[in-house]
Amino acid sequence: MNTPPSILSAIPRRLHLQKDHPIAITRQIIESRFPDFTTHNTLFPIVSVHQNFDSLGFPLDHPGRSRTDTYYLNKDTVLRTHTSAHQAETFAANQSSGYLISADVYRRDAIDRSHYPVFHQMEGAMTWDRTALSGYSTLAEKILADVEKIPRHGIKVEDLNPTIHPERNPLQSEFHSPEEVEAMATHLKRSLEDVVVAIFTTAAQASGSTAPQQPLKVRWVEAYFPFTSPSWELEVYWQDTWLEVLGCGIVQQPILNNAGVPHRIGWAFGLGLERIAMLLYNIPDIRLFWSTDARFLSQFKESSPPKQFIPFSKYPACFKDVSFWLPASSHPNPTNASGGLSQTPSSTPSFHENDVMEIAREVCGDLVEDVRLVDEFVHPKTGRKSLCYRTNYRSLERTLTNEETNGLHERFRQQLVAKLKVELR
Ligand code: PHE
Repeated sequence: MNTPPSILSAIPRRLHLQKDHPIAITRQIIESRFPDFTTHNTLFPIVSVHQNFDSLGFPLDHPGRSRTDTYYLNKDTVLRTHTSAHQAETFAANQSSGYLISADVYRRDAIDRSHYPVFHQMEGAMTWDRTALSGYSTLAEKILADVEKIPRHGIKVEDLNPTIHPERNPLQSEFHSPEEVEAMATHLKRSLEDVVVAIFTTAAQASGSTAPQQPLKVRWVEAYFPFTSPSWELEVYWQDTWLEVLGCGIVQQPILNNAGVPHRIGWAFGLGLERIAMLLYNIPDIRLFWSTDARFLSQFKESSPPKQFIPFSKYPACFKDVSFWLPASSHPNPTNASGGLSQTPSSTPSFHENDVMEIAREVCGDLVEDVRLVDEFVHPKTGRKSLCYRTNYRSLERTLTNEETNGLHERFRQQLVAKLKVELR
């Protein structure tokens, strides 16, 4: 068990189901682009390791399985780290062709304005039945006829890589013909381009700007997931950078075969609702979604078109540093100790940065905005390693007093000693 109380207490919140919550509205906008799909929005977040990893073909040594990345309740049970945990059961239960799952997911991760250990994903999948060609001579032809039903868009899409790459994105040749995969890839890409166009057109309208909008640019890039092949990510050019908005691919056929539907083939995608809601409303900090402050919640209405979020004020930031020596045992070899500041110190087996993040979250709740490694040092004689983390304390709702931030920081320091056995400097 490595799941702290603050995480367990997030389970009942279900932001994706709260009326007029921006996460729920974002979900509804995307759902409206898939009118024929069945929706599943109340699946329980506690799942087995089998559901979350094994059923999807994650190798046993996949880093996602580790206790530093995933919240375990016991050795066989986790808080789902992605909505894909429900693929197998949904394929098995759902005889219709398409489904959407929206749900809270849980990951141990960094603390900053775009990462929170609980967030929300939407998974979508569409499959076709080989035994129901409805008049077409091949399944590929039927899929291509379905492509024609997707609304057309006029945006520029860059898609440079061939659908199939023999090593990185192989055809599942035992199960699929190249024509079937090409047809499914076209259907998948066109469906998701339609979603992105809908979202970003709404975002442009929400900004209320009368200046000529930059035309929307999107691109497909190769990706890797254990449970799809070939796989892609969709990126959108937004405020001068390429942003990854979703992952997707052709479902690994053993998942469908094991779910009792070997005659079906299809695609799946997964996207993060926070990322999209932040773009749609221009929300600057992911912690805001958890706020119960009326100054936040009252700005969103399901019944009227999205408007840009108006920040209610920016309260002062308070930076504090903590430096400590790692326990001697966790750093046996000083010679391989360097590495840039941006890298997680990984040469120390018993220390993981996510543990520092979690202690900060437990002590400070949402009063911590950012925790960052700012210095790293190896003592030339003893080989011991020292780290310095900088914490930014800031409330989204009020000004913190000095007393309060000093108190939080002192408790953070003490918990680092108690839980990680570090020595404060
Ligand atoms: N589950 C993947 C993630 O969390 C996204 C994904 C879903 C990719 C479905 C492919 C198919 O990153």
